[in-house]
Amino acid sequence: MNQTEFKRRRTQLMKMMGKNSIAILPSSSEIARNRDVDFPFRQDSDFLYLTGFNEPDAVVVLAPGRKHGDYILFCREKDPEKETWHGRRAGQEGAIENYGADDSFPIDDIDDILPGLLEGRESIYNIMGLSADFDQQLIGWVNHIKVQSRNGKQVPSEFLALDFILHDMRLFKSKAELKLMRQAAAINVVAHKRAMRLCQPGQYEYQVSAEFDHEFKRNNTQHAYPAIVGGGANGCILHYTENTDVLNDGDLLLIDAGCEVQGYASDISRTFPVNGKYSAAQREVYEIVLAAQTAAIKTVKPGNHWNDPHHAALRIITKGLLEIGLLKGNLATLIKDQSYRQFYMHRTGHWLGLDVHDVGDYKVGDQWRLFEPGMVLTVEPGIYIPAHSKSVPRKWWDIGIRIEDDVLVTSTGCEVLTEALPRKMEDIEALMAS
Ligand code: GLY
Ligand code: MN
Ligand code: MN
Repeated sequence: MNQTEFKRRRTQLMKMMGKNSIAILPSSSEIARNRDVDFPFRQDSDFLYLTGFNEPDAVVVLAPGRKHGDYILFCREKDPEKETWHGRRAGQEGAIENYGADDSFPIDDIDDILPGLLEGRESIYNIMGLSADFDQQLIGWVNHIKVQSRNGKQVPSEFLALDFILHDMRLFKSKAELKLMRQAAAINVVAHKRAMRLCQPGQYEYQVSAEFDHEFKRNNTQHAYPAIVGGGANGCILHYTENTDVLNDGDLLLIDAGCEVQGYASDISRTFPVNGKYSAAQREVYEIVLAAQTAAIKTVKPGNHWNDPHHAALRIITKGLLEIGLLKGNLATLIKDQSYRQFYMHRTGHWLGLDVHDVGDYKVGDQWRLFEPGMVLTVEPGIYIPAHSKSVPRKWWDIGIRIEDDVLVTSTGCEVLTEALPRKMEDIEALMAS
């Protein structure tokens, strides 16, 4: 992503913060996996959003109106020996030249420099609770100035929630962000198609899962979350990620997978028959979930609110379950009593962006948030019928179906970013046979 995009975001944020304030945000740290091996590094999404800087042990400071520039980046110093072992670092010069920082200091000097930057500011914007150590460090810097207040130094008097402003900015995707989200969607579509073509009885879930690893990696992307590749009964476990079982003839396979491009996620679920042909019972349930998703997507448009897709989906799911005899009673009462929750226990979507379950409020006060152009969400209804479900005939057992797509709110309605991946049964069957 272009540096001007990051600058635009910082400028917008500082405009909203006001002059007498300062924002401070730490990067992610390396996390130990075992002994001396770390997990692959993933930058904190807020930090990435403001800087594009992809190293650990960094702190961004935004100080509106500061004489020597408002964007200060603390980061690791260059160190030829460490870089030989562990990889390149931008260093202070790189932070200024490549990331547009006005000033950059070694992270090891932060205790000496940061109190001076806080001096004279009334409020500090930060995100409390991200890291207990960092919270403690920040309080230490404030206390450091307090001790010196008798010398006339002004101490910041309030902490304000940086996430309150920042997460609302992140909810609205720019052109540059949408370009990356479209790329993530397109790569994910190809991966799902590969999985559909490869799948057959006797394969293992991890073999199908490897199609995603391959397609994501060869496009220089990574998983946005652990892939869910669940055959038969495993399709009824919402967050099944073991992916270790054999795929049996006659079973369904539920896949929920997504990659991220420069941090921007895609998130798609499809459910298809291991042997390439949906059974009669599977067809009946699939039709309901697909109809629910179609109805839900139709409600995504400016002026409608966050809960409209969910309400549309649960109405069709409850009606469908009533028609096939899995629920009994009056439609309105079943909806009111949330009887559908036995088979549909999650919501119909979430915001999507730098985090797969992206930031942004779902309510404003006690009102559901209205859709506005630039918001991106998933629409993902499902029905899950585990074996031995109470008073459920055997023919429905172990049918777990979710259909999930990524949807952009536009000025006139919406655009399904993942439209290129078939969801109708006949199209999926044709693809699997090709
Ligand atoms: N993949 C996580 C979700 O669909 O919410
Ligand atoms: Mn999702
Ligand atoms: Mn998903």
